[in-house]
Amino acid sequence: MSSTIEELERRREAARVGGGLKRIGAQHAKGKLTARERLDVLLDEGSFEELDMYVEHNCVDFGMQDQVIPGDGVVTGSGTINGRLVFVFSQDFTVFGGSLSERHAQKICKVMDSAMKVGAPIIGLNDSGGARIQEGVASLGGYAEVFQRNALASGVVPQLSLIMGPCAGGAVYSPAMTDFIFMVKDSSYMFVTGPDVVKTVTNEVVTQEALGGAVTHTTKTSVADNAFENDIEALLAARDFFDFLPASNRAMNGGGVPERPTADEWDRIEESLDTLIPASANQPYDMHELIRKTVDEGDFFETQPAHAANIITGFGRIEGRTVGFVANQPMVLAGVLDINSSKKAARFVRFCDAFEIPIVTFVDVPGFLPGTAQEHNGIIKHGAKLLFAYAEATVPKITVITRKAYGGAYDVMASKHLRGDLNYAWPTAEIAVMGAKGAVEIIFRGKTPEEIAERTAEYEARFANPFVAASKGFIDEVIQPHSTRRRIALGLRKLRGKALENPWKKHDNIPL
Ligand code: HXC
Repeated sequence: MSSTIEELERRREAARVGGGLKRIGAQHAKGKLTARERLDVLLDEGSFEELDMYVEHNCVDFGMQDQVIPGDGVVTGSGTINGRLVFVFSQDFTVFGGSLSERHAQKICKVMDSAMKVGAPIIGLNDSGGARIQEGVASLGGYAEVFQRNALASGVVPQLSLIMGPCAGGAVYSPAMTDFIFMVKDSSYMFVTGPDVVKTVTNEVVTQEALGGAVTHTTKTSVADNAFENDIEALLAARDFFDFLPASNRAMNGGGVPERPTADEWDRIEESLDTLIPASANQPYDMHELIRKTVDEGDFFETQPAHAANIITGFGRIEGRTVGFVANQPMVLAGVLDINSSKKAARFVRFCDAFEIPIVTFVDVPGFLPGTAQEHNGIIKHGAKLLFAYAEATVPKITVITRKAYGGAYDVMASKHLRGDLNYAWPTAEIAVMGAKGAVEIIFRGKTPEEIAERTAEYEARFANPFVAASKGFIDEVIQPHSTRRRIALGLRKLRGKALENPWKKHDNIPL
C-alpha cells in the first residue's frame, strides 16, 4: 500500500474512533449506540456514504487547539432506507458531548442543503449537549443556520428527528422545527434548561426524566410523537415510518407517496364491521379496529398514540399507497374534540396536505368539550386550528361518519362544506346539532318528563340517522360498514388526479 493510501486509512480510522474507546465504552454502558452504529441500523447495509469526515473545529480558546477530533462530533452523509434516498446526520456524544460548533453546524447544513436540492428527506439522530460552550457566539450562529434551514425545508422535504441522548438548549429547537420526533425511553431528554438551572431559577427540584424524558414529551407536552424502549427499536421504527413518507413535496424526482406492492385485495369485505357499532349510543368501541381493517395488511403507524388519545392520527396504505388517517376515538373521552386533540390532528392534517398525502377521516364525535378549563385555555383558538387545517387542505379528502357527528365538530371533521371530496356515512350515523336528549331539554325547557321523553323519541327519529344530511347532498352515499375499504380504495383511485388550488397568498395565518 502506498503511503498516501495508508495516510488516508489512518485519517479515516481516527475519525471513526471519535472521542476515543473510553468514551465509546461509557456510551455503551448507558445502553446507547454510537453515532456510527446508529447509522448502521438506520440505513440499508453498505449504503452510507459519509461526507466531511476530516472537518475540524476552528476554536482556539480554552485549550481547544489541542483537542481536535476529525469529524467534529457529527457524522453526516446520505444512504438509503429500503432503497430510497435519505440524508442523515448523527451526533457523536463521545466528541465534546455531541455539542454543536460552527463547523459541526456547517456539516449539518451541507446535508440539509443537498436534501432540499434533490428532494429527499432528512433524518437527524440527535445526541448533543447543545451549543459548544467553548465557542460562544460562533456556535449560536451555527444553530441559527440550522434553524433557518429547518424552516426552509419544512413542507419541502420531510424532516424526522430521533432524540437519542440528553439534548439541551439549541439541540431541542432544531428537532422542534422538524415534522416528527421520536425519543428513546430512559436515555433521551429534551429541555431548554436542565434540572440544575431550573432549581436555581424557580427552586423546583425535578429529575431529567420528569422534566424532559420520553414519557413526559409523548404524553404531557406532545413535543415528541413516539417513545421507544431503546436505540435499536427507535431506529427500526424510523425505517418503517420512513417507508410511509414521500421523498418531497414534488411529484417529480421520486417525490409523491411511495408505493409498496400488497397482496391485500382492494375490495376486501369486512363483515365484522357491520357489528362494530354497539347497540347503545353511549357505549364505546375501539376505532383502531376500523382503521386496521381498512388499511393494507392491518399495517398502521400511529403518531402520538400516548397524547390526546381521543383522536387517532397516523399512516396506513390503501392499494400500496400512503394515506393519512384521522379518527375520533370513542374509547377515550367519548371521542370529544378538545384543545390537545385539535392541535394534534391539525398538525397531522397540515403535514399530509404539505406532502400530497390523501386524508381519510373517520368520524364519531359528540362535539367540543365544554368547561372553564377548555374555554380559559383557548379551545376557540385551538379548535380553530383543526378547522383551518381541514379547510385549507387541497389533498383528496374522504370522510366516513360511523356514528355521532354533532354540532361544530361535524363541520370540523372534513365535512362536505370544507371541500370533502367523498363524504360517506354508515347507516348508524347520527348527524345533528347535538344529542337528542340535550336538544329537547333546550327547546322544550320546563316540560314534564313524559313530554321530554316523547319529544326525545321524536327528535331521535328525525335526526339520529344519516338521511337528513344525505337528502341535502352533505353525505354522498350511505354505505355498508363491511364495504368501507372498497369504497375508500375506489375513491382514492378516482381522486388521484385531483387538482385544487387555494387563492394565491404569501402564506396563510392559521391561529397559532
Ligand atoms: C462543550 C460539552 C457540552 C457543551 C457536554 N460537553 N456539553 N462540551 N459544550 N455544551 C462535554 C463535557 O464537557 C464532557 O466532556 C462530555 O461532553 C460529556 O458530558 P458530561 O457532562 O460528562 O455528560 P452527562 O453527565 O451525560 O451530561 C450531559 C449533559 C451535560 C446533560 C448534556 O453535559 C450538560 O448539561 N451540558 C451542558 C448543556 C448546556 O447548557 N448546553 C448549552 C445550551 S445553550 P469530557 O471531555 O469530560 O468527555 C444553547 C444555546 C442555543 O444550546 C440556543 C438556541 C435557541
